Amino acid sequence: MTIASLADQRQLRQINGQAQTNGQASTGETDRAALTASLLREKELLSEMSVLSQQQDLMAQEFDHRLGNSLQMIVSLLSLQSLAAPTPEAADQLTIAAGRVAAFGRVHRRLHFLDRQKNVELKQYLRTLCVDIADLLLEKGAGRAVVVEGAEINLPTALGIPIGFLVAESITNSVKYATGDIIVHIQTSSPTVLLSISDDGPGLPSDFNPMKQRGLGMKLIQSLTKQIGGTLEFAPGDGQRGTRLTVSFAA
Ligand SMILES: Nc1ncnc2c1ncn2[C@@H]1O[C@H](COP(=O)(O)OP(=O)(O)OP(=O)(O)O)[C@@H](O)[C@H]1O
Ligand SMILES: [Mg+2]
Repeated sequence: MTIASLADQRQLRQINGQAQTNGQASTGETDRAALTASLLREKELLSEMSVLSQQQDLMAQEFDHRLGNSLQMIVSLLSLQSLAAPTPEAADQLTIAAGRVAAFGRVHRRLHFLDRQKNVELKQYLRTLCVDIADLLLEKGAGRAVVVEGAEINLPTALGIPIGFLVAESITNSVKYATGDIIVHIQTSSPTVLLSISDDGPGLPSDFNPMKQRGLGMKLIQSLTKQIGGTLEFAPGDGQRGTRLTVSFAA
């Protein structure tokens, strides 16, 4: 039922009720006219509010649509530029940059559908996002998958962007350095959420120090962890194999 039709019903109820209780005809009629005028004004205001809210929704949709198109254009531009790069290393860097922008586009697209909601269910959100990321990064028919498992938890939607980007960056590394499936696991130990991304690859170098990496990936992961007020831990995965990155943060 629309806001305007609710107001119509309330208006009728109030006018009828008022007419029954007002005994004297003359004052009753004046009161009734004033009441009708004020209720009509209220109805007009509610209808204006409803139009404004629809306009705002349309503008937000238009903005999201344009941002999506712009990101796609940047991806195409970087991919084209990689074809014209003077060295294979430069071409690789441009392809990686295109991948990052594309991953951000996917995060943005997934969250766009949840924009008006205060909370997002993390597992469902990461499942849809990981389908997108796998589609973007995994070779078709390579027999690899990104699996999202564990607890369900509602988080403020605003956390969705840094978390989505962090997961995308970590999966990118697992795709690059490992060969099997990639597992995204969610565990809750109120009020803390433990989000891990693991693979069964060769594992991190024994002298690995996340603060001393030349790549952009770890820098991004650290900065995104800081953004959500979390902490980061690196360890081997199940059976002491592969790499497990765990981010702990308050829900
Ligand atoms: N899942 C992983 N398995 C094994 N080694 C990893 C994994 N993730 C990261 N590393 C190691 O950590 C290093 C730093 O990773 P980081 O993502 O910062 O850089 P990169 O992947 O080399 O470059 P970039 O992310 O800029 O493309 C890597 O070079 C690699 O040696
Ligand atoms: Mg990397």
